[in-house]
Amino acid sequence: MKAITYDTYGPPDVLKSVELEKPTPADNEVLVKIQATSVTTGDYRARSLDMPAGFGLIGRLVFGVFGPRHKVLGTEFAGEIVAIGKAVKQFNIGDAIFAYPGAALGGYAQYAVLAEDKAIARKPANLTSQEAVALSFGGATALNFLRDKAGIKPGDKVLINGASGGVGTAAVQLAKHFGAEVTGVCSTTNLDLVRSIGADIVVDYTSEDFSRNGQSYDIILDTTGTLSYAGAEKSLKTNGRFLMVAGSLGQMLKMIFARKKDGKKGIAGYAPELAEELRFLAHLAETGAYRPVIDRCYPMDKIVEAHAYVDTGRKRGNVVIAVD
Ligand SMILES: NC(=O)c1ccc[n+]([C@@H]2O[C@H](COP(=O)([O-])OP(=O)(O)OC[C@H]3O[C@@H](n4cnc5c(N)ncnc54)[C@H](OP(=O)(O)O)[C@@H]3O)[C@@H](O)[C@H]2O)c1
Repeated sequence: MKAITYDTYGPPDVLKSVELEKPTPADNEVLVKIQATSVTTGDYRARSLDMPAGFGLIGRLVFGVFGPRHKVLGTEFAGEIVAIGKAVKQFNIGDAIFAYPGAALGGYAQYAVLAEDKAIARKPANLTSQEAVALSFGGATALNFLRDKAGIKPGDKVLINGASGGVGTAAVQLAKHFGAEVTGVCSTTNLDLVRSIGADIVVDYTSEDFSRNGQSYDIILDTTGTLSYAGAEKSLKTNGRFLMVAGSLGQMLKMIFARKKDGKKGIAGYAPELAEELRFLAHLAETGAYRPVIDRCYPMDKIVEAHAYVDTGRKRGNVVIAVD
């Protein structure tokens, strides 16, 4: 089968097209014929090992100390199950699915195997594989932070900093779904996009500093690493939560040890890959409450260009790769 692999960390051109043996599913695994994968910031970090300051060692431990441990990138993929192991109970041959292996990677190939109890869910019927593949990375991260870590509730005032990216576009839509009033912060060119996915208020960070507008929020979610707890805290209501999706180790430690007043909290951490979250996102997509934003779609043989585009840090929502 065709696959994209890399042997050393570095710029996009470390990615090479190769022929690999098609995998065979173990008893508890499904074999997926992949139709679409994507270039997430997770793929960017696994390829480049460009980690937030202070996380270099953790990055090597996760992705491989002397070189990439998993040579096929791809944090998420969508496709059709074409074979199952004899102990598989939840899926059948012919099921259209999307999956989120996360740091285990594996989507940049024509086939992948995955244990049935990993993060796999049936593809919503109203989405193509190229749309469904983009449900996972941003969606599961935003859902985990907003619902599971922060306990978002109807009527909350929520600010999303970095509202136009993969996590941000999911967070805006999910916060709206949970009944929040949403402010999205992004650059000038993305104001219309962020408004179009449901933000009640948009703030252009190139001309306005939200922390000086006199507003306060129940939840501030930052996907950019540009906010500190000390800076965000002034814009939090009593019992407000600052969600640091991205940030350096120093920012996180300062947040943990900062004196907290008025019940305010700072929350960082990893958003795990969970099948339940994928099923929740698929259900929302089916009802029309959530639709992944697709910026560009590249064919698999343009993977180097796709990575170079994501390296700019300016993608809008998601960058998809058509495998089939
Ligand atoms: N904790 C976890 O488990 C977890 C999980 C997933 C991702 N992450 C991390 O979350 C971060 C975001 O991921 P992503 O996939 O959403 O990235 P992304 O798609 O590249 O989006 C980042 C966004 O940041 C915006 N931005 C850049 N500078 C900004 C500024 N000064 N103020 C406001 N917005 C700014 C950009 O929008 P404009 O072009 O409009 O500026 C861009 O859309 C990454 O660092 C990733 O590693 C963490």
